[in-house]
Amino acid sequence: MTAAVVPPTVEVHLGPGDLRRALEDDVRVGLSAPDKWLAPVWFYDDRGSRLFDDITRLPEYYPTRAERLLLQTQAAAVAERSGADTLVELGAGTCDKTRVLLDALRRRNSLHRYVPLDVSRTTLADAADGLAHDYPGLHVHAVVGDFHRHLDRLPSGGRRLVAFLGGTIGNLTPDQRRRFLSDLDGVMGPDDRLLLGTDLVKDRRRLLAAYDDTAGVTAEFNRNVLHVLNRELGASFDPQRFDHVAWWDEQASWIEMRLRSTTRQTVKILDLDLEVTFDAGEDLRTEISAKFTHQRVHDELQQAGFVVEEMWDQPGGDFLLTLARPGC
Ligand code: SAH
Ligand code: TRP
Repeated sequence: MTAAVVPPTVEVHLGPGDLRRALEDDVRVGLSAPDKWLAPVWFYDDRGSRLFDDITRLPEYYPTRAERLLLQTQAAAVAERSGADTLVELGAGTCDKTRVLLDALRRRNSLHRYVPLDVSRTTLADAADGLAHDYPGLHVHAVVGDFHRHLDRLPSGGRRLVAFLGGTIGNLTPDQRRRFLSDLDGVMGPDDRLLLGTDLVKDRRRLLAAYDDTAGVTAEFNRNVLHVLNRELGASFDPQRFDHVAWWDEQASWIEMRLRSTTRQTVKILDLDLEVTFDAGEDLRTEISAKFTHQRVHDELQQAGFVVEEMWDQPGGDFLLTLARPGC
């Protein structure tokens, strides 16, 4: 007998009002700071999510391919080690690579539920529909939420595998990472497992090319945050008057994405009653993407209370998957 398609369910912890308030606070703080910055979460409206999806297919952007390859070779081992009945995924996006994990867990016959969490409601809902259709019998329960705030709202019980892929943990500052990992450790039970995907330190030119492609997709993605501010807050950014800049900070071991003002200009943000002046050449920091060593991943997990069970990389060492259990 074939299993029936289970209609996906959606749980919303970030309604339009919450998002709006968070955006207002972030923009006010970030654009009033001496070194201007914006939180990366605001890249991902519908257009931003589509642009990111385009990035994952660029010849220069190796992380998605490298991680998919790792998942293809190691998903059976991950499924075996975790024995999970629920796959939770943080910052799931289009849930594309996840299919490799879902397939492996299904082969073990243990999987009942998939719980993707993301801030981007439309992308998440579309992905949930597609997955529910393609995986009959699987209960897809999508959670619209913020992984900095809503980890304790994730459905509990059973054996959960919590996947945090795409190197997204590298987009958190070291302080945010510490807090995030220890919060996560706090909500996980002894039978739960964490599967963490991290990008590894490598040749500087390859790193930079991955964040500054020749087709200009990453530049458009970076500028998308200005379109979001124009639409949502009545801001008057002219995105063409900002250059996309990617730069490798060797000391901090991260790629930094910035938008550099091409001229001296004043931007009005109507809804915040705020005027922001940029000097010619002044930068607005939009994103960091930290690159790790095995040791650093191990140490940060351990400091947060996790016990590392297994690490998988490939020859050439582009990307790393780590399986860990909470210390409890
Ligand atoms: N996991 C996918 C997508 C990575 S892009 C992959 O590996 O390809 C990062 C994703 O995290 C986006 O879908 C974005 O909407 C989501 N995201 C960013 N900040 C978030 C936050 N604070 N809480 C929840 N999701 C977030
Ligand atoms: N998680 C992705 C990464 O760090 C996000 C990303 C890829 C990104 N390219 C970007 C963010 C360009 C901002 C700009 O690799």
